[in-house]
Amino acid sequence: MEFSDLIPRAQAALRENDAGVFTKPGPRQYPHQWNWDSAVIALGLSHFDLPRALTEIRSLVGGQWRDGLIPHVVYHTGPSDYFPDPDFWQITSSPHAPAIPTSGITQPPLLAAVVRLLHSRRPIPGFVREVYPALLRWHRWLHTARDADGSGLVCIVHPWESGTDDSPRWLNALSAITPADLPSYRRRDTTHVNAAERPHRADYDRFIHLIDVFRRSRYDPQALLARSPFLVQDLLFNSILYRADEDLRALAEELGEPTAEIDGWLEKMRASFDARFWDEARGLYFDYDVRTGKPILVNTAMTFMPLYAGLPDEAKVQRLIHEHWLNPAEYAPERATHFSLTTASKTEPAWEARRYWRGPVWIMLNWLLADGLRRHGFDTLAETLRRDSLELMARSGFREYYDPRDGSGCGSTDFSWSAALALEFVAYG
Ligand code: DGY
Repeated sequence: MEFSDLIPRAQAALRENDAGVFTKPGPRQYPHQWNWDSAVIALGLSHFDLPRALTEIRSLVGGQWRDGLIPHVVYHTGPSDYFPDPDFWQITSSPHAPAIPTSGITQPPLLAAVVRLLHSRRPIPGFVREVYPALLRWHRWLHTARDADGSGLVCIVHPWESGTDDSPRWLNALSAITPADLPSYRRRDTTHVNAAERPHRADYDRFIHLIDVFRRSRYDPQALLARSPFLVQDLLFNSILYRADEDLRALAEELGEPTAEIDGWLEKMRASFDARFWDEARGLYFDYDVRTGKPILVNTAMTFMPLYAGLPDEAKVQRLIHEHWLNPAEYAPERATHFSLTTASKTEPAWEARRYWRGPVWIMLNWLLADGLRRHGFDTLAETLRRDSLELMARSGFREYYDPRDGSGCGSTDFSWSAALALEFVAYG
């Protein structure tokens, strides 16, 4: 099997990052449990240790808030040299906070999709029955606490909720925020990773300012919708949610649980999605800034995420692929040495090859988009993403992200979701 020598290395990386009941996304940079990382890590673990994969999911769900939110970070092991530390969030000001320390925001809801995938490969009906109520409550929270305009589309209130913290798509919204009365804090994310590969200081100040706004609002969901200076409908988040709602529905059906509520969510999202996000003149999907009431006209790889949700019609799919994916000025690799897929179009002024979500290749995004491409019949392009991902990991190890120009690694070393997806990509080629 091609690239099969990655298998023992990937398993070893996941074992190294195993902290007992959860897996650190990166050994030094990310020493706690992150939400969407854990979903993918569980998928990776399922290739060689299904019981441990289920433990990973149980631990994440163990951080669920009383109102349904599954947080973006769960601090099972107390403080570390990671900032924000658990106390910084002040979540106990909320009546909904769980007993365990967590952050007070969420992350892209991949978990239901992973649970269904695991179950479809090796039936785990008892486990599905066990976690289904928590998944349903999380999705219900997203569809209520985060529906700011009744469109059925879900808002995020912090760039960290997008999982793509310093993406160029958030630049305008962030620059409109004045981080007044910024609490004093010491950034720690540049301790283990080169500062040139991490968010700019101005972005980081705003990340912290937003947390301060939320903790002063006691994480009350209505107050956050009313007060958060950052309020956007994110293409990546909504595409993942749509697909996960479909998976949740399939699980409900199998369990004999009611499906009407989930059908309602799906129907509403479908009715709003293209009207809100599609730009016919440019042939691109754009995120939407709810605060300004305007689309965010920034061309990032998130424009392709609706493929993963299976939402675009044939005409839109053709435009996305032929006008953008295959356009060398935007996404197509210019030479054989370039790797797919850059996280932003190279035409964006904020594009940077090595800085976090400003341009580098991320294995996670390649995995989601390879799936999306296959759904729409672009098997050859999907195979390029799979091969590029495996080639990058074979050359440069399991890094957090990669420079698309030469394939060198950036960010954290021994990154868990890259290792997890190596196992997935090798097994399902
Ligand atoms: C970080 O600390 O950089 C994370 O992305 C926040 O979740």
